[in-house]
Amino acid sequence: MAVPCREAASDAQVSAPGIVYDVCKNAADMGTDEILQVIAAIRGGVLMKENGSIILTGFMGSGKSSLGVRLSYRMKLPLLDTDKWIEKEQGCSVAEIFARDGEEAFRKMETQALWTILNMGGVRIISTGGGLPMREENRALLAQLGSVVFLRVKPETVCERLKGDTTRPLLRKEDPEGEIRRLLTVRNPLYEEAAMVTVDVDGKDYEQIMEEILRQV
Ligand code: S3P
Repeated sequence: MAVPCREAASDAQVSAPGIVYDVCKNAADMGTDEILQVIAAIRGGVLMKENGSIILTGFMGSGKSSLGVRLSYRMKLPLLDTDKWIEKEQGCSVAEIFARDGEEAFRKMETQALWTILNMGGVRIISTGGGLPMREENRALLAQLGSVVFLRVKPETVCERLKGDTTRPLLRKEDPEGEIRRLLTVRNPLYEEAAMVTVDVDGKDYEQIMEEILRQV
């Protein structure tokens, strides 16, 4: 979906009423659906500037995909999930890509996906694979795409949520809990480095998390 008000509201300094005014000035070129999308996004508190996507990052099981669906619905913005994008491109699951091509090849696909999304332009909700922000290049690309949100989660919550999960190749280990703790120790500083907003998700429902995000982006 092309976002109609990108030019109109590209000045990030304007206040929300200013954006509405500017959008209205340009509304003659828009269809009703487009105008409704713009208004919903403004009401949701998102400044519709160039590259103003909301990007959800965080560890496996932090709730990125579920929250992405809800945010997309709430903001009337399209949702793009990088894992699903890659799976569609490759015609197989992430687990199959890991088995067939190895982790490094998958990481290259993630970077390639980010470049493609950036070149596509537009504003959307983007949920990302848990390891995506680990590459420096990816962190720079995320910053180009919009507001990066880090969903911080405790290891206990991840263990609880992913108990019995067989879809994550990185957790197919003898001691998945130990691996979760190890990966979180390495990764948390990098998620934080990449993010503009950090939200602790443990013990909160999706509505609460969504409100926290929308207050801060
Ligand atoms: C990974 C997380 C997965 C998926 C892949 C690798 C990771 O996505 O991209 O299995 O390195 O943390 P989710 O975070 O959606 O589970």
